[in-house]
Amino acid sequence: MAPKRKAKPAQEPIKYASVTAQQALLTLLQRTFSAAFSDPATLSAAIQAVKAHLYARDYLAAFDSPDYLLAYVVRWSSSRALAYLHVFGDLCPQIPLLLSSAAKPKKRVLCVGGGAGGEVLALAALANDLGARGVDILAVDIADWEDVFTRLRDGIARQLGWLAEEDSKPPVDLNFLQFDILDVPCQILDGDQSQKISLESLSSSSSSPITATATAPDALPPSSSSAPPAPPAPPPTDKLDVSKFDLITVLFTANELFVESKPRTISFLRHLCDRCKPGTILLILESAGSYSHISIGSKTFPVQFLLDHTLVDPSPSPSSSSSSSSSAPSDRWEKLIEDDSVWFRLDEKQLRYPLQLENMRFFIRLYKKL
Ligand SMILES: C[S@@+](CC[C@H](N)C(=O)[O-])C[C@H]1O[C@@H](n2cnc3c(N)ncnc32)[C@H](O)[C@@H]1O
Repeated sequence: MAPKRKAKPAQEPIKYASVTAQQALLTLLQRTFSAAFSDPATLSAAIQAVKAHLYARDYLAAFDSPDYLLAYVVRWSSSRALAYLHVFGDLCPQIPLLLSSAAKPKKRVLCVGGGAGGEVLALAALANDLGARGVDILAVDIADWEDVFTRLRDGIARQLGWLAEEDSKPPVDLNFLQFDILDVPCQILDGDQSQKISLESLSSSSSSPITATATAPDALPPSSSSAPPAPPAPPPTDKLDVSKFDLITVLFTANELFVESKPRTISFLRHLCDRCKPGTILLILESAGSYSHISIGSKTFPVQFLLDHTLVDPSPSPSSSSSSSSSAPSDRWEKLIEDDSVWFRLDEKQLRYPLQLENMRFFIRLYKKL
């Protein structure tokens, strides 16, 4: 296995996220959503309401009205898009390499929790900058971002000049699917809907195993340590076939998923382990520090620990001593980049935007499917 590399953002040269490139994204957002900016009182009230819901970690409430969605895009996706341009372009060289690969005619990207468009905008701008073609981006989100997403998609196409190329397909295809990503594993599970799942391997104390009783819709496949051999995987008839994607992003969404359901989130991550094809890149960002701590039983774990544990640590196998030569595809991921505290600081003196922009601090994990 290749040695782990640690991203060192402070030392990374800014190649793609220059101030000029950042300003271009802000201008694009401002032009696309000019109607929202023309009614500052309504916009400000919606921003305050979303802020209160986010502070209370009531994420579903924060995204449950059209005004809130619009407010989120102009107030938060703006800063996010700038940070993500830096992450995609400057911190994760694997991503520009993938997007610009001539060997792959289609580059398929799945943005989990991407309805608000910050990562979509950054990816589209990066792909445009690279002269990439054949990039398909699908944003999947539980909230109804359809309207806002369509406006953003049209704004991107218009302002990046893609509409001029009338007879040719745009270089980047942007689509939205309203869907609960935690339904993915459940859709393909048959049988027992009341299995007991166990996360005891996370616990150092065998007297207090970390367990969760899963009943529908929280049903999980049994943990790998105690499970009988799994039945053959059904054909990928699920609505969202994760095996076709080359890049999957889960940006500032993992915490929400864990808050919604810990067992189902672990199940979703295992589903990625089981289904993603070798070489798939998985990028996960989340708030750095204690905001991203998850309680399981009486213990608290950083989210990135749960991610590494589920995606990277070798799954226990009863016959591990004899299975090392197995040619079966691996269900594991290799960690390419990890950093538990990345700062993205904006140059506010140079950037022009009518709303406050935020510096961001986050952890980063970039995995590659083995
Ligand atoms: C904090 S926002 C982050 C948005 C965007 N990724 C960003 O970084 O700016 C989290 C997003 O995840 C979505 N989300 C939450 N639970 C989800 C689920 N179960 N399935 C799909 N999307 C979900 C929310 O609707 C929201 O759009």
